[in-house]
Amino acid sequence: MPESTPQPPRRDHGFHEVRVHRVIEETGDAVSVELEVPEDLRDAFQYQSGQFLTFRLKIDGQQVLRSYSMSSSPAVDTNLQVTVKRVDGGVVSTWMTGSLSAGDLVEVTLPAGVFTLGSSDGPIVAFAGGSGITPVYSLIKTAMATTSRPVKLLYANRDRDATIFRDELDALAEKYGDRLELLHHWDADSGFANAEIIGTHTGHATSAPLADADYYICGPAPFMDLVEATLHGHDVAADRIHIERFTPVAPVEPPEIAAEEAAAGPSQVTIELDGKTETAAHRAGTTILQTARSMGLIPPYSCEAGDCATCMAKMVEGTADMFANNALMDDEVEDGWILTCQAVPTSPTIHVIYGYEE
Ligand SMILES: Cc1cc2nc3c(=O)[nH]c(=O)nc-3n(C[C@H](O)[C@H](O)[C@H](O)COP(=O)(O)OP(=O)(O)OC[C@H]3O[C@@H](n4cnc5c(N)ncnc54)[C@H](O)[C@@H]3O)c2cc1C
Ligand code: FES
Repeated sequence: MPESTPQPPRRDHGFHEVRVHRVIEETGDAVSVELEVPEDLRDAFQYQSGQFLTFRLKIDGQQVLRSYSMSSSPAVDTNLQVTVKRVDGGVVSTWMTGSLSAGDLVEVTLPAGVFTLGSSDGPIVAFAGGSGITPVYSLIKTAMATTSRPVKLLYANRDRDATIFRDELDALAEKYGDRLELLHHWDADSGFANAEIIGTHTGHATSAPLADADYYICGPAPFMDLVEATLHGHDVAADRIHIERFTPVAPVEPPEIAAEEAAAGPSQVTIELDGKTETAAHRAGTTILQTARSMGLIPPYSCEAGDCATCMAKMVEGTADMFANNALMDDEVEDGWILTCQAVPTSPTIHVIYGYEE
């Protein structure tokens, strides 16, 4: 390649140390964490609204990995910020809401995720529940500041006090008038949100879906399932529905054996991780992540559902199919990146490198 040919930007999926600038108490059980990105990493940490970071933390001597979405907007906020809501008995969310302080160093990946605004210019209809407001708040701030798209948000919470960004959202709705329609739903006042409430929010009074709208959903699993089913019931096209899942949708089923593999016998899988290289025959019905574990390696993972990208690795030889991918961009997949928790080999040999650097 001639020297003058522009090179594609270098992909970096490792962890980086960043300092906590501020911890802001949002509600009794949620905090926002503002991060100070070092000068030399500012370009790499550029992000799109709706994306997330994966944190690698050591809590009580155990390494843990969890993803948290940005609540900041690259269009209007100076510092990158995530927002964490405590989950009962949750290891990381309890630590982050109770023990993390300004000045602490944490390790995070670069921003990732596909729950983003895209290039559409139609209305945005969003449904958020509890901590699901985090990426949705980022999307809304960016859409209001950088587009003329009208936005509707149905935001469900236990009660007023549990409502993260309540004042900020009310202020935005006030500022943008008719362009931002905000409906708070408090279970304490009106019971859980039901299909009728959600149906009304999907469109106009007739419940007809808004033409050209994009629908964004993030919140507790039952809330998301209800919204998704209601949207389908209102004939909203599947490609207009954008979903961010914080918890796996269901226990991960062992993937089916790829037809090619069944015919040709098991693939030989070579995995590089932390300076070790191991090769083994692929066992039918297992993922590449499981193959790595069976080799005695300790690969990174978090959700095991294709949602967080913690398990991503670069495939430098061979081919693989992924059963779900809610985290990698199309160009990353084209470049050979795979979610190892979702990938099974489809070629006789496959070579995968965790922590690959170009
Ligand atoms: C892409 C992505 C983005 C995310 N963004 C955010 C965010 O912006 N803010 C945020 O607060 N969380 C977010 N999460 C969820 C977060 O990564 C953790 O799963 C969550 O904080 C719980 O971790 P924990 O260690 O406290 O709980 P764990 O110790 O892992 O789990 C404790 C128990 O709680 C259950 N549980 C786990 N997560 C949840 C949940 N979200 N709600 C209810 N029960 C749960 C588990 O099944 C388990 O029984 C995101 C997850 C993903 C995959
Ligand atoms: S572990 Fe979350 S995408 Fe694989």
